[in-house]
Amino acid sequence: MPEIRKAIKIPLIAAGGIIDGKGIAEMLRMGANGVQMATRFVLSDECTVSRKFKELYLKAEKDDVVIIKSPVGLPGRAIRNKFIKAVENDEVELYPDCDGCLKNCHRDYCILHALNNAQQGDIDNGVVFAGENVYKIKDILPVKEIFSRLVSEVKAEPA
Ligand SMILES: Cc1cc2nc3c(=O)[nH]c(=O)nc-3n(C[C@H](O)[C@H](O)[C@H](O)COP(=O)(O)O)c2cc1C
Repeated sequence: MPEIRKAIKIPLIAAGGIIDGKGIAEMLRMGANGVQMATRFVLSDECTVSRKFKELYLKAEKDDVVIIKSPVGLPGRAIRNKFIKAVENDEVELYPDCDGCLKNCHRDYCILHALNNAQQGDIDNGVVFAGENVYKIKDILPVKEIFSRLVSEVKAEPA
């Protein structure tokens, strides 16, 4: 990170696995100008994913988070559920309503359909993206409370 900070003149935003103020402070000390956080905010009252999606997060253990390839070949971290196992075993059937929306899609599964399924609670037929430290978060909180904790935790860290 310090090398990247020196090499570029634009703001440097650190992302991936940051779940608390300690993590934010560490990134700032290393030269980041800010952070991007996703997983911590999925486990908020306000996040509109289904209750089952959040429950899968809360139940997740370290080894449940795996790197998958999207149908366009991009890697992403997801919780290894029934659907991911089926993709790994080549058991997912071609999505019947596929309209070829993405030209470079391998069509091994429909990511749009799978993400919608997970968001709406059909977890067994969905992709549940999650950060690598999801297993460390064990509560669903209001966003206001998450921010207030993050601020106090950053303040408690050395600059
Ligand atoms: C539920 C979820 C959905 C995401 N969707 C996208 C996406 O559509 N495009 C993208 O570039 N990154 C996506 N990400 C990655 C985040 O933007 C972010 O860079 C990364 O997850 C940060 O790590 P964290 O989740 O450990 O905080 C997603 C992450 C999560 C957890």
